[in-house]
Amino acid sequence: MNEAATDIAIDKIENSRISQFDPSNIQFGRLYSDHMLVAYYDNGAWGQPKIMPYDNLSLSPATTFMHYGQAIFEGIKAYKDPQGNPGIFRPHDNWKRMNRSAERMAMPAIPEELFMDGLKTLIDLDRNWIPNGQDTSLYIRPFMLAIDEFIGVKPAEQFMFIIITSPAGPYYSKPVSIYVQDEYVRAFPGGIGYTKAAGNYGMSMYPTKKIKEMGYDQILWTDGIEHKYVQEIGTMNVFFVVGDKVITPDINHDTILEGVTRDSVIKLLKEKGVTVEERLITIQELKEAHEAGTLKEAFGTGTAASIAPIYAFTYNDQKMTLPPMETCEITAWVKKELSDIRYGRKEDTHNWVVRL
Ligand code: COI
Repeated sequence: MNEAATDIAIDKIENSRISQFDPSNIQFGRLYSDHMLVAYYDNGAWGQPKIMPYDNLSLSPATTFMHYGQAIFEGIKAYKDPQGNPGIFRPHDNWKRMNRSAERMAMPAIPEELFMDGLKTLIDLDRNWIPNGQDTSLYIRPFMLAIDEFIGVKPAEQFMFIIITSPAGPYYSKPVSIYVQDEYVRAFPGGIGYTKAAGNYGMSMYPTKKIKEMGYDQILWTDGIEHKYVQEIGTMNVFFVVGDKVITPDINHDTILEGVTRDSVIKLLKEKGVTVEERLITIQELKEAHEAGTLKEAFGTGTAASIAPIYAFTYNDQKMTLPPMETCEITAWVKKELSDIRYGRKEDTHNWVVRL
C-alpha cells in the first residue's frame, strides 16, 4: 500500500480473532474484524486518527447522540479480485454523502484524507477478513456520533468518527416481497430523508416490524404528503422495468437516499443503451403497468443488499406478483455486470474500485 498522507497511530491486536470467522457461515453484521479506526473532534478540529483492536466504547450516559440521535453512518464494501487483492467500491462517493449527512445534522465535515487514508489503512490491516466466496465481501461501516456530555438540546461540539468492518454475505438470500406503505411516513421535503441519519432507520423499526408480522420482507415508502409517489425501500433504492424502460424515483426532493449502488446501476444501464428515467413514479402508474402486463421486473439496490430482486408488491390488499426471476433479464444483467467490476473480473472503466 502507498504511504498514507494522514498520520495514523496503529495499535495492533495481539491475538487475531480470525479463527472465529467461518467463511461458510457468514451472517450479516454479527462478527467484526480485528481492528477499528477512531478519531475525535474537539475545539473545532479533528485529532489524530487511531487504529486499535475492535472493542466496546466507554461513554457517559449523558452523551448527546444517545438522547437526540445526532448520529450518521455509511455503508461501503471491499471485495477480493481473483488474485486475492482487495478493492474498495466507490468509497469516495460515500465520503461525499457522509459529509452531506453531516451538514444536515449539524456535524463537522470529515476531511477527505482522514476518511480515505483511514479506510485504506484499516482495510489493508484487516485484509484477511475479506472473504472470497461468491457474493461475499467485507462490509465497512463508517459512522459519526455527537459525544458532548450534555443533555441540553443543542448541536454538540465534540464528535467521534469510527470505522468498523464485518465479513458479509448476501443481505437477502431470496427475492423479497414488498408492502407499499401509505400510513406511516419516512420522509418529506425539508426533512432528513436524503441523509444516512440514524433516526431514518430508527423510525422505520415499528412499521417494518408490523409488515414483517404480516409476512412481508420490506416497506416501499410513499411520499409523506399525498402517499401517491413511491420513494425507496427500507434498506434500498428501487427500480422498475416497465416495457423496455427502467424507471426509478428521482432524488430531487430531499426525500430519497442518493445510493452509490443506485448511481452505478443507472450508469451501467445507460451505457448498455437501456432507457433509464429518474422521475416521480406514482403507485397508480405501477398498478396500471402491472394490469397491462408491462411491469416486468423490479429490484432494490444498496450497498448491503447489492441488487435484490423483488417478486411482489402489495398495495391496499392488492398483491402485484412479478414474472418469475428466470425472465428478469435486466436484473440478472446488471447484477452480473456490477459483480464483475466489484470482484475485478471485468475492466473497471469508471475507476470505481480503489485498490490498496
Ligand atoms: C447499506 O446498504 O449499507 C445500509 O446502510 C443499509 C442498511 C440496511 C444495512
